[in-house]
This record gives sequence, structure tokens and C-alpha cells, in this order.
Amino acid sequence: MVNFKELGLVNTREMFAKAIKGGYAIPAFNFNNMEQLQAIIKASAETKSPVILQVSKGARNYANQTLLRYMAQGAVEYAKELGWEHPQICLHLDHGDSFELCKSCVDFGFSSVMIDASSLPYEENIALTKKVVDYAHQFDVTVEAELGVLAGVEDEVASEVSHYTKPEEVVDFATRTGCDSLAISIGTSHGAYKFTPEQCTRDPQTGRLVPPPLAFDVLDAIMEQLPGFPIVLHGSSSVPQEYVDMINATGGKLPDAVGIPEEQLRKAAASAVCKINIDSDSRLAFTAAVRKVFWEKPGEFDPRKYCGPARDLMTELYKHKIINVLGSNGKAE
Ligand code: G3H
Ligand code: 13P
Ligand code: ZN
Repeated sequence: MVNFKELGLVNTREMFAKAIKGGYAIPAFNFNNMEQLQAIIKASAETKSPVILQVSKGARNYANQTLLRYMAQGAVEYAKELGWEHPQICLHLDHGDSFELCKSCVDFGFSSVMIDASSLPYEENIALTKKVVDYAHQFDVTVEAELGVLAGVEDEVASEVSHYTKPEEVVDFATRTGCDSLAISIGTSHGAYKFTPEQCTRDPQTGRLVPPPLAFDVLDAIMEQLPGFPIVLHGSSSVPQEYVDMINATGGKLPDAVGIPEEQLRKAAASAVCKINIDSDSRLAFTAAVRKVFWEKPGEFDPRKYCGPARDLMTELYKHKIINVLGSNGKAE
């Protein structure tokens, strides 16, 4: 059993309280490898932004949970080496799907876990979430829960059946589970194809897809029910067109990829949304940079020569998100 405090990590409690008060959001970036982690820490240290390092079940399987934990511990020291005197770094389990997985992360030094029981019936979601909360809180580990089902492509906007979070359920859910933050569904979804072309309009000037707006009315109703309660937005990549273009110009094939426009994320960050999850944009930056090197220098075979540019582009991306979208720069001096 290792407690996160011994590793120099922090939980989300104070981060979120300050973010809500200050009208900004904390970036939650997924990582699976060293280059992503280096880029996240460099961007956070240079901007003095609190940051949440997210590890999914898939990341644990890919990179090994022991290695990831030590990498996060190393990240705290790396941040200090970069001149960030008091790094505020949270290590978070993304989309935990069982009590056992959440417990294992709590026992292993994570400072925050998500139990995603959103696909279960309401009462089962409450029961499982409460079980995780009761365990995690003994060690001061904070817990994110989810209510409502994240839209998949084809869902929600075109569908009759709503999977959005029901505002009338949130008080009961938060009270009975004791969760520290709530992931909600207001039209975002995971991946680089968040909407079908049929769900979008086309910009007559550029010919590019313009996605439908998020359901801010649902967010407003949730905030009215739970004033000051930390809200989380998953599926918040913007799918930058420049990366999609770079990928498509170098032999890739990502037709009609579309994400959440940044101005909508800015609006969310200014509200009680205090954690914004971004993974796909980092994958796109990594892929675009690697493809560019291979396209321009087909003889290159030193991984540092293509992972290095990928790391640089991801660092640029993370800094842009922190400074221009979430507004978390300077909040962890
Ligand atoms: O929630 C989805 C995240 O982007 C993690 O994705 O399960 O492929 O690691 P993953
Ligand atoms: P994106 O796929 O939009 O980056 O969302 C990531 C996420 O929600 C991780 O939990
Ligand atoms: Zn997610």
C-alpha cells in the first residue's frame, strides 16, 4: 500500500474548488508513454498549470501499471527539475470499470480514481460508485463518477432517445454516492469522429464540417441543481484541422474527423466544469509529427528522430490548451 502523498501527488479536491471559483478548468491529459508524459509535464511546468495525468485501463495494459506509477512519481521530480517549485500533479484512473480496479489504483498510489458505472442501471451505478467512494475516501483519494451516457457517433443529436445526464437525478446521485466530481453527458464523445457529417453543417467558405453545439441548457440545469459542484467533461478533444491535414497529406486517412470547437470548451471552462479530458488531440499531434518525418525522410529509423518532433508538437498542443482554452496557466505557482 502506497499513499499518493508519499509520491508528491495531490488529489483533485483543492484543484477543483479553486478552478470553480476562478472560472477555469484543470487539464486532464491521458498518457501511455514517456514522450506524452514529458510533453505534459514540460507544458504544465512552463505554464505553472495544475494538471491531471490520466491512466486508462488500456494504458495500464499497454504500458504496465507499475511502470506508469513510477513514471508519474518521476514526473513530480522532473517538474521540480524544470523549475516548478510546487508542482500540483494528480494521478488519476480514467474510466475505472470495477471496484477491484479502483481499489488497486488507490492502493498503488493514485490520488484520484474514476468509477464509470454509467452504463449500469441507475441504482447499480449508485451502489458501485458509493462502494468505491467509501474505500477511496479512507485514503483521501478523490472519486469521479459518471451519470448519463456519452454520445457515440450517430447518437444523441440525431436520435430521439436522450442519453444526456438528467438534471433531476444529479442531487440524489451526488448525495447518495458522496462522489467528489461528476462527469456528465451534454453531447461530447470520445475519439476523432464526434459527429457524422449529417449531424454537422458545412462552412461555405472552407467546406469544413461545423459540429452542432453542446447542450449548454442541460449543463445550466445541472449547475442549478448542484451549485458549486465540480463537473467533468469527457470527450473534449477539438480535433485540430491542422493535424488532420498533416496526417492526410502524408499518407494518412482521416476523412471528416471532427471535434468540439474550442470556443465551446472555453465557455464550459468558465462554468462549474473544472476538469476537461483530452486524449485524441495528443494522439493526432503525435501521429502527424511522426508521419511528417517518415514522409520527408523515408530512410529515418532512429526513434528519437521521429518521437522527438512528436513530443515537441504535443508540448505545443498542451500549452495551447492550458493557456488559450482552459485558462489554468499560472494557477499552480
Ligand atoms: O476514454 C477514452 C480515453 O481516450 C482512453 O482511451 O481506453 O484507448 O486508452 P483508451
Ligand atoms: P477525447 O477522445 O475527446 O480526447 O476524450 C478523452 C477522454 O474523455 C478521456 O477520458
Ligand atoms: Zn473519457
